[in-house]
Amino acid sequence: MTDRVVLAYSGGLDTSVGIGWLQDATGKEVIALAVDVGQGGENMDDIRQRALDCGAVEAIVVDAKDEFANDFVMPALKANALYQKRYPLVSALSRPVIAKHLARVARELGADSVSHGCTGKGNDQVRFESAVAALAPELSSIAPIRDLALTRDKAIVYAEEKGLPIKQSKKNSYSIDKNVWGRTVETGPLEDPWAAPLDDVWEYTQNPDHGLAAEDVTITFTEGIPTAINGASVTPLEAIAQLNTLAGAHGVGRVDIMEDRLVGIKSREIYEVPAALTLINAHEELENLVLERDLGRYKRKLEADWANLVYDGLWFSDLKSSLDAFFEHSQKHVSGDVRVNLFAGQAVVTGRQSAQSLYDFDLATYDTGDTFDQSHAKGFIELWSLPSKISAKRNATS
Ligand code: ARG
Repeated sequence: MTDRVVLAYSGGLDTSVGIGWLQDATGKEVIALAVDVGQGGENMDDIRQRALDCGAVEAIVVDAKDEFANDFVMPALKANALYQKRYPLVSALSRPVIAKHLARVARELGADSVSHGCTGKGNDQVRFESAVAALAPELSSIAPIRDLALTRDKAIVYAEEKGLPIKQSKKNSYSIDKNVWGRTVETGPLEDPWAAPLDDVWEYTQNPDHGLAAEDVTITFTEGIPTAINGASVTPLEAIAQLNTLAGAHGVGRVDIMEDRLVGIKSREIYEVPAALTLINAHEELENLVLERDLGRYKRKLEADWANLVYDGLWFSDLKSSLDAFFEHSQKHVSGDVRVNLFAGQAVVTGRQSAQSLYDFDLATYDTGDTFDQSHAKGFIELWSLPSKISAKRNATS
């Protein structure tokens, strides 16, 4: 039997040319796999047909939108995951779900390898291949753009020579990745870190300065997961999609950062993440209301570790799944409502309530009815500061 390879197929120039290129270079039959993670744009049936027209022996489309939202984005929300405190891991979350389907299809259809269209300079190659290594260690990975030196110019020439049905041949100045959790934009004019992003960068968000009146949205969480928007029940996928529209209209979620890639390069990145930032803000604030203090403090430290692991392609690692178990347990009381005001590029929490609240008005109030016994504070501080006092005395003499 001829060897087979399953290619993560996007429908774009690189992976379309990659089909024939892989076949020529390896002699393997190519199975194209397009995974829908809510990237929008083209119809998945058209993408499937294009893969066949470009020479794939089989082309498979998987609707992974709910799976992505439920099993990949929700754990990130529970972890309030932001790489470098700003980037909600848009691409870092989609690679493991795509890799999961690559490995599954490879096993089901008897392929010995998988393939992706990443270059050798980015994080995504690491994420695909590390995920596949963890899920199906018997498979090998081939990256035509990286391993077979398929450049964009060569791809255009190849597509013309073979008469491949690919419309886009003009130089595309941005490199863009999209899914329901957000949109990423790199390269082109953004490669100058001093150059402000041009208006043509944005798609998920409106200009925050366009004068839209402020709007409140109430998000209901049940054990850390958004379950209603303005009182109407939603699935995680629906919550994300609705908040992208609502918050995006107010210009919420525009991020412009210098990012440290795993491969050592610093890179200038633009993100559009209206739902992600709105949900993370709201979720964090609900946690502030319901999590016991030390749990909250400890969780915040682990959140940064979780984001680094996932950014670095270790979604299917033992440490990451152990951290997930901790976060999952921490969400037991994270149920309640958060009101967020959307205005001029900001998603600001203006109210929170929960049956699990640890806020005690009688303890917090400065009015009459205060049940906090202030006389206990004096002795508490005496003992709390005792180690500092003792060492200060020693330090003064030595
Ligand atoms: N820098 C981001 C990350 O590493 C975005 C990557 C986008 N990928 C792409 N192929 N354009 O997660």
